[in-house]
Amino acid sequence: MKISVIGTGKTGGKVIELLGSNLAHAFDASNPPTIEKLKESDAVIIFVPGDAVEELLPVVLKSGVPAAWGSTGYEWPDNLDKQVKDAHTKWILASNFSLGMNIIRNAIQVISSGADILQKPSFEIHEVHHIHKKDAPSGTALSWKEWLAKDAEVTSAREGDVNGIHELTIKTETEVIQLRHEALDRSLFAEGAVWAAEQLTKQENLSSGVYTFAELFDHTMKAK
Ligand SMILES: NC(=O)c1ccc[n+]([C@@H]2O[C@H](COP(=O)([O-])OP(=O)(O)OC[C@H]3O[C@@H](n4cnc5c(N)ncnc54)[C@H](OP(=O)(O)O)[C@@H]3O)[C@@H](O)[C@H]2O)c1
Repeated sequence: MKISVIGTGKTGGKVIELLGSNLAHAFDASNPPTIEKLKESDAVIIFVPGDAVEELLPVVLKSGVPAAWGSTGYEWPDNLDKQVKDAHTKWILASNFSLGMNIIRNAIQVISSGADILQKPSFEIHEVHHIHKKDAPSGTALSWKEWLAKDAEVTSAREGDVNGIHELTIKTETEVIQLRHEALDRSLFAEGAVWAAEQLTKQENLSSGVYTFAELFDHTMKAK
């Protein structure tokens, strides 16, 4: 399987390392992708900042190549699913490609329903990332809030070279519950993105359209 990568920075660089001889093309701001070159790949993985997505979106869409997007801080158009279906291809959009996030998602959903028995609980989500991260709060913190489905306060900090720490804290007057995830190495995201790109191309019963990482993960588990 040949996979192209758009964005050769901190995270895209890890994908390129992992792909080795399975890399089709690597693109960055000074060497942008073309439809023709993208078509030489079975899938494409994209780790560019959110503000670069707008100009890349039409090129990736027109190539028709299945795409795994890791970019955060971009507001995707409401009709994206239709656009991807019309292009007869499959995309995954993931704010966090850590495979462990799928365990966290289940844990947060259990916490959410269980918290209903607590006396006046408050919910806080705190995320810490490196100082170069452009968007705040992180896309992952927003996913956690969505999975929790409670009125949670979300706070952010930017420190040194932190790969990503997320903490959910539930407090009452008499107890504190905490759930914490820390990304120790960016290769974690690269592994998840390559896994997702492979699933997009391998799974023949996955129809055209846009998927979340959670949907792709659940679909794969069911197919087993
Ligand atoms: N989903 C996840 O699991 C996950 C994990 C980590 C990060 N992220 C997200 O991924 C994005 C990238 O993060 P990063 O830390 O890897 O960033 P980074 O180190 O700054 O790298 C960004 C890369 O994007 C390239 N780029 C920028 N504009 C471009 C354009 N118009 N066309 C082609 N390439 C372009 C840059 O090219 P030049 O080098 O030529 O400037 C650079 O190679 C961020 O949105 C971040 O939040 C997501």
